[in-house]
Amino acid sequence: MKKIAVKAARRGADRRSIISALFVILLGAAIFTGCSEVQRDPGRIYMPDMGYSRAYETYATTEEQKAELLSKGIHFSNTPVPGTMKRGELLPFLIEKDKIGDTTDYHASRDVKSPLTSMDTVEAERLYLVNCAICHGPKLDGNGPLYRGGDGPFPAAPAQFVGKAQYENMPEGQMFYSVTYGKNKMGSYASQLSTKQRWMVIAYIKSKQAAGKAAAAPAAGSSTAADSTAKK
Ligand code: HEC
Repeated sequence: MKKIAVKAARRGADRRSIISALFVILLGAAIFTGCSEVQRDPGRIYMPDMGYSRAYETYATTEEQKAELLSKGIHFSNTPVPGTMKRGELLPFLIEKDKIGDTTDYHASRDVKSPLTSMDTVEAERLYLVNCAICHGPKLDGNGPLYRGGDGPFPAAPAQFVGKAQYENMPEGQMFYSVTYGKNKMGSYASQLSTKQRWMVIAYIKSKQAAGKAAAAPAAGSSTAADSTAKK
């Protein structure tokens, strides 16, 4: 009798340890599968505006993505409604954005002259330093902290405004076109800067270019300076 009781007790203990071992294995499996499975479906969302950000990334949003957002009724900070303008704002730029692959309007913009007759130069410099210098450089050498000679996080070389003929000779209207609609890797600034502010920034670039040219060629200074001011 005693022997049987001991055997039974042992069998019970064995069973218990097997059950607890199984439990540990199952628990481990549950934890591992729980970890490996990425939860893509968050279930019911109480406030979708908070669940999904409606922030609008200037450089990450294509026209197709914008159209998709708008079709869902999602609005974001963007350029003013076409055909409207802010009180006190300069008249809008009449040249439209080229279709992809076309450059007709980009070339036509060369003839557009700046409507500014005078401006606050300190404010123009501030606008340049805040909006453009991060790529184009505080010295306008195309080497701002975001590019850093190719070591920076921004992959494309920004235009070098000072010391490069292509940009020194670029008409202000064409610069305005690119700042308004964007150029290759550079996004549009039409939603960040008003028409007047965009012309101010360009006037600042042009004034620095004229000063750079005058300093670089003091011998031929009189004629080059006269040429560059005549062009303006
Ligand atoms: C995020 C970086 C970045 C910022 C910020 C930036 N740019 Fe640019 N910009 C570029 C790059 C890159 C190019 C060269 C585009 C190309 O490939 O032609 C460029 C080109 C230009 C050009 C020449 C366009 C042409 O038609 O060839 C002008 C003018 C210009 N930028 C003005 C500005 C002004 C003004 C600002 C500030 C309001 C500004 N950029 C801010 C990156 C930037």
